[in-house]
Amino acid sequence: MSATPPHQPVPPTPENIGRAAEILRQGGLVGLPTETVYGLAANALDEQAVARVFEVKGRPKFDPLIVHVADQTAVDALVTNFPEAAERLASRFWPGPLTLVLPKSAAVPDLVTAGSPSIAIRIPRHPVALAVLQEAGVPVAAPSANPFGRISPTTAEHVHEQLGGKLDLILDGGPCVVGVESTVLLLQESEAVLLRPGGISLEQLERELGTVRVATAADHQAATPLLSPGRLPQHYAPRTPLVLAEMVESPASRFAAEGARVGLLAFTTPLLATGYAEVEVLAPTGELRDAAAGFFAGLRRLDALGLDLIVAQVFPEIGLGRALNDRLRRAASRG
Ligand code: TXA
Ligand code: MG
Repeated sequence: MSATPPHQPVPPTPENIGRAAEILRQGGLVGLPTETVYGLAANALDEQAVARVFEVKGRPKFDPLIVHVADQTAVDALVTNFPEAAERLASRFWPGPLTLVLPKSAAVPDLVTAGSPSIAIRIPRHPVALAVLQEAGVPVAAPSANPFGRISPTTAEHVHEQLGGKLDLILDGGPCVVGVESTVLLLQESEAVLLRPGGISLEQLERELGTVRVATAADHQAATPLLSPGRLPQHYAPRTPLVLAEMVESPASRFAAEGARVGLLAFTTPLLATGYAEVEVLAPTGELRDAAAGFFAGLRRLDALGLDLIVAQVFPEIGLGRALNDRLRRAASRG
C-alpha cells in the first residue's frame, strides 16, 4: 500500500505506470506527463471515457482531441492513409512534439475527432508517457490537463491544483522539457498546413517538406467542419489582464495608472525595467528553448500574485518564438 493520499501526484514507478495503464483500459482518467505539457488522458476507443474528458475539462464538444500512441503500428490502425510526407516527418520527429492530422479509420469514435473525418495523432517522447501507452495497449486521447481556456500545466502539481479531485491518478514525470504544446500539422494531398505552432518549429518542418502554409484565422473560421476548432482566440488565459509589449525597458507606469501593480514576463533579462512589482525572466541565456520550458509556469507564478496587469515581452518571431507568441496573443485576448 502506498502512503500517498488519493489524487496527489505519484512517482512513475513501474507499479504506478501499471496502475495508470489499467485505469486507462478500464475507462478512467489519468494526468499524464508528456514532453510538451501534461495531458488529461483517456482510452480513445472508450466513448464514455472520452465524454468524461470533455466534461472534466469543460471543453466544448466541437473541439477534437489529440490521440497518443506508442508506435507506428498503432498509428497505422487509426488512419486510412499515411502519405509519404507523413513518413518523412515521422521518421524525423517521432517520438516528439509533432501532431499530424490525417484521414481517420473507422476504429476512431467520432466524439474524439468532434465529427471530423480526420484524426490528430502523435507519438510523444516522454519516457513515462511511452511506458504507459505501451502497457495500456490502447490509443489515448489527451488534451492538455487544464480547465478549458486556462493556462496549460507543465508540472504534476499544476494538474493537481486545477483538476486534482476529478482524475483517478496523476503521474509525476517532472517538469515538461519542451513546455509548449505539440505542433499540429494538417497533411493534405496538395499541401501541408500548420494549424498550431508548437514544439517543432515551422523552419524544421520546411526543411523536411519545402513550403508549409500557415493557417490564418480566416482558414479556421471558413472551414466546415472547422479546420482546427481548438484555435479559438481566447486561450491560455491568466486571471490577470495581460498586454504584449515589444519594449519593456520603460517604466511600468507606461502600461497602467500610477500605483497599479504591474508584473513583467520577460524573455531575457531586461536592461532597465523600472517600476514593476515583479519581474519573471524566462531565459537569462536568451535561448528560446529555455523560455518555452519555463513559459507556462512563469505566467502562472505572475498570475498568482494578484497583480493589476501583466506585461509580456514579445518573442522573436522565429523557431519556438512563433509558438510562444501565439500563446501570448491568445493569453492577451479578452473574449
Ligand atoms: O502537446 C500537445 O499536443 C498536448 C499533449 C498532452 O499531447 N495536447 C494538447 O491537446 O495540446 P489540446 O486538446 O489542448 O489541443 C489540441 C489541438 C486543438 O487545437 C484541437 O483543435 C486540435 O489540436 N485538433 C485535435 N484534433 C484535431 C483534428 N482532428 N483536426 C484538426 N485539429 C485537431
Ligand atoms: Mg490545450
